[in-house]
Order: sequence, then structure tokens, then C-alpha cells
Amino acid sequence: MRYSCLLGILVMISAVSAQESPKEILNRFRSAGMKGGDSAAGEKVFRSEKAGCTKCHTTGEKKRLAGPDLNVIGDKFDRNQLIKSVLEPSARIHPDHATVSLVLKSGRVVNGVLKRRTDESVELFDEQGNAQSVSVDDIEEQRGSKTSLMPAGLHKLMDEQQFADLIAWLETKTQPDSDHPGIPSQISSATKSAELKVFADGFDHPVWLTPKPGEHGTWIVVEQKTCKAWQLKQSAGDLTRSVFVDMSSESISGVYEGVMCLAFHPDFEKNGLYYLNHHVREEGVFSPVIVERQATEDRSRDSGRATRRLIRIKQETDLHWGGMLAFGPDNLLYIGAGDGGPQEDPDGHGQNTKTWQGKILRIDVDGRTGDKAYGIPDSNPFVGRTDVLPEIWGLGFRMPWRFSWDNKTNEMWVGDIGQNLFEEVTIARKGGNHGWNVYEGFTHFSDRYRRQGDSYVPPVFSYRRRLGVSVTGGYVYRGTRNSSLTGCYIFGDFETKYIWALRREPSGGVTVRRIAQCPQKPCSFGIDHDGEVFVIGYQGTIYRLVVDGVQFP
Ligand code: HEC
Repeated sequence: MRYSCLLGILVMISAVSAQESPKEILNRFRSAGMKGGDSAAGEKVFRSEKAGCTKCHTTGEKKRLAGPDLNVIGDKFDRNQLIKSVLEPSARIHPDHATVSLVLKSGRVVNGVLKRRTDESVELFDEQGNAQSVSVDDIEEQRGSKTSLMPAGLHKLMDEQQFADLIAWLETKTQPDSDHPGIPSQISSATKSAELKVFADGFDHPVWLTPKPGEHGTWIVVEQKTCKAWQLKQSAGDLTRSVFVDMSSESISGVYEGVMCLAFHPDFEKNGLYYLNHHVREEGVFSPVIVERQATEDRSRDSGRATRRLIRIKQETDLHWGGMLAFGPDNLLYIGAGDGGPQEDPDGHGQNTKTWQGKILRIDVDGRTGDKAYGIPDSNPFVGRTDVLPEIWGLGFRMPWRFSWDNKTNEMWVGDIGQNLFEEVTIARKGGNHGWNVYEGFTHFSDRYRRQGDSYVPPVFSYRRRLGVSVTGGYVYRGTRNSSLTGCYIFGDFETKYIWALRREPSGGVTVRRIAQCPQKPCSFGIDHDGEVFVIGYQGTIYRLVVDGVQFP
């Protein structure tokens, strides 16, 4: 009796330990994935019907599916990250392939990755990777989702060896070297790096810092998600902050939505006017808007007077919204407008001269043309043409997130975020066609929207996935602390967090060196009244880039 009871307990214990927890299974695959593997066998796994990867992923074929193209995934992710992205798809979601949930009037919910949106319908890839179309009239609400469309548990469709093989194959998917002088294979470090010194922290997703006109030692910091801008004032070594404006009642906010940029009127000290680029959803349509607001008499904060809206750029999706806003050396307002998504610019906005999307626009905030809330400068490159919108200053951009002017040469440097392969740094030209989506960086992308006889302004520099994933445009250094950097463009990458300096050589080539790696994702750069550079860490910290010791060749 006692004996059989004991036996019963033993049987129960062994049954429990034989059943592995999901966590243990994941760990088993994780360690298998680290162990090498046969990449040729891995390709077979990838292409097998059972694993199903090709329902949603291409590897270089020009075809849009639910998931990102994986042709250079070995440059983007190391082995650890590859394993993680297959075992835990929702742990880190590719922003351009995030899932949206459409709540239909019937109560049904359709989840998928956006393929295309028009005024009539929303096309998305469903959980099976198939394209589906939903009529706009049937949609009650569209929401973002934190769950990847890529199914969890794909490893259960294979054994450990096959998983290791699959990872080994993904690791081999890298971009071949290019002999183009503007596309380096590697970027070496400067002999001495710059130091990133914490200047202020505790911000909630800061995306922009700009010096306040006329007040040395005072800056404005814009927070994306809270929709607030803070005044940051330095006096006697102390930093104090106060709310400059709170846009939360006018702006939507979300993972990538909110307030993106702030620009002071060139006569701000006299008229108190300033401008914001932020997001709204009106009539169900997502749009960046450019608005004018006014500060109090003492200019210490917003006056509370009503917003004056200048421009609303309607988009089909809530991706690639540009985000930049700045007055140029000509005192006109330049606006960075993205191609509006979702991927590969399916409607050719970058090349379409009848839409603002995929452009840099230029307007005169003090003027009025016709019934527009702003003026069209006579000097705009396409004024008088009926086939081009008069606001357009430059075209062929994908996501010109940050741009700035070299205060010596007045050239406008743009960091334009790329599609699958290349990030781009370019000097924008008035009336210039910067290529997207005919070109991605220096490289041909698609002829679908190419027009006969068009010519394209090539970038100054373009880098591959091995070096980064999302370019953050910065500033041409004109500070006084390091003469070897004078005239160098300082910029970075949001994902690899590298900070680089680039010099154009008289020969036409470029010299680029890594001068730092930011502890946080650098989403923007800022400039001091003296031309010294700040780096804005998206996780909340603002760093001073101390360049004193850097030795740039
Ligand atoms: C039903 C569609 C679907 C299937 C099937 C699928 N994926 Fe994905 N995958 C996605 C989507 C959508 C994303 C982007 C969202 C994300 O990052 O999770 C993604 C992301 C990825 C990424 C990260 C890519 C990047 O650039 O961030 C990798 C790697 C990947 N998938 C590998 C695989 C492999 C290997 C398989 C087969 C075992 C597979 N996927 C099956 C839809 C799918």
C-alpha cells in the first residue's frame, strides 16, 4: 500500500518534469540557434511549405508581402537578434510592418499589415499573409497593435537542428560590397572619439532641441508623445525647465505620432510667433499639420491664443510623415514631407508633382497667396507651372526626417531614411529630384514612376544595413572646439546608435569616421548658440557631444 502510493507520486513527478514549459522550449531553441548550423539546409527550411516563411517574406524578389524583405537581414541583425526575431516576433516589431487592427462596423476585427490605403479601401495582409481589401465605409475604427503579424511559435514547425540551420542561413543574407565611393563597406573610428556628456535627462521621448532666439543658454525641447515642449534654461550652472507649450489637446499621440518639430519665426523676439509640425486624425485620415502659435509678451511660454493652421498634408497611412520644420537662411519655412507609406511608395508620391508627399516644401508664413493661409514665394522653383504644386521646393524624398543648413555655405543637408537597403545623406537642391522611388540612395530601385528625361540628384553618401537602419540627419560642424571637424557633417543612425562625421573631399569622394556611439537611440541632433552639437536620445537623455579630442583625418 505504502509502496504503491510512493510509486504513484514518483510517476506524477516524472510526468510533470517531462512536460517542458514554453520557456524551457524557447531556451532549448535559443541555445540550438547559437550553435552554428548548415546554411544550405537552412535555406530549404526557409523555403519549405511547412515553415511558411515565404508566405510573408521575400529575399530580394521585388514583391510586396506582409513581412519585410530579408535579403540583407544578416547585416541588420546578429545571431542573437535573429534568433529573437524568429522566436519572439512581438518583442521588437519592425515599425513599417506593424500590425493594424480594423474594427468594422459589423463588430468584426481584421488584423493585418497595411499594403495600401486609398479613399475607398484599405488593403492589408492578413495573418495568412494574403492580401485583403476592406471598404473604408465598413470601418468603424483603426487601431495600432503591439502584436506582430508574424506568428509566435514558428519553431514548433521544426526541430532544433533545422532551427539552427535556418538561423545560419539568415546570417549569410548580407549585402555584397559595393565599389561605389559613396557606399563604404566599413566606417573606421576616429583615432580619438567624442564624449557624450549627459546634459539633461528625464524627458519623455524627446525628438527635437532648438536654441531659443535671443536667449543664450536657453533651449526648447520637444517631446513627441506627451505633445509638450519644454523650455530649458541654464543659469549659474543650474538647469531649470518649464512648460513652453502643451499641444496634447490638439495633437494625436501614439507610438510614432505626436509633435515632431518646432521652429521659431526669424522675428520671434519681436512678434513671438513660432511653428509646430504635429499630427492629427481628421475625418479618419492621419495627417501632419503645420501650425502657427504665439508666445506671451515676455516670450517665456505659449500665450494660449488659438492656433493658426497653415497646411495639412493628408496621408493614406500613418507612416513616413516627414516630421521636419525649419526656417532657412532665406527666412522661408521649409517642411519635410514623407512619402506617406506604407512601403516602397506604392503610388509613387516621391515622383508625383501633384502631391506634397515625398517632398520638401517651402512657404512664406508672412504672406498670403489666394485663399492659402501662407504665401508662395515667387522664387519657388515651380511657380507658374500647372503640373507641379507651387509649394514644392525639392522632390524624390522618402522620409526626410531631419535637415539643416551649413551656416557657412547655406547648403541644406538632409538625412533621408531608406527602404530596404540604403540610408541616404544628401544635399538638397532647389527644384532637384532626389530620386525616390526610382533610386534608393545611389542604387536603382524601380522604374514604375520614372518619367522620360528626368535626371536625379545623387546623394553625398549612402550606407548599408551593416552600418545602420535609420539615418538621423544632424549638422555641419561650425563650432570652435575642434578645427579638424570644421565643415564636417555630424549625423547618426537610430538603431546602431553610431555617430559619424563626414567630410566631402575636393575629389568628389567623402571621408567618414565614427566619432561616438550613443548610449540611447539618437533620434535628433541639436545645436547650441555657439555651434556645438547636442545628441537627443529617444529614451529621454540629451547629451552634449564633446568633440575637443576628436582627431578627424
Ligand atoms: C504571417 C506572416 C509571417 C510569416 C509566416 C513569417 N513572418 Fe517573419 N515577419 C512578419 C512580419 C509582419 C514581420 C514584421 C513585424 C515584426 O518585426 O515582427 C516579420 C519580421 C521578421 C523578421 C525581422 C525582420 C526585420 O527587418 O526586423 C525576421 C528575421 C523574420 N520575420 C523571419 C521569419 C522567418 C524565418 C519565418 C519562417 C519561419 C517567418 N518570418 C514567418 C510576418 C511573417
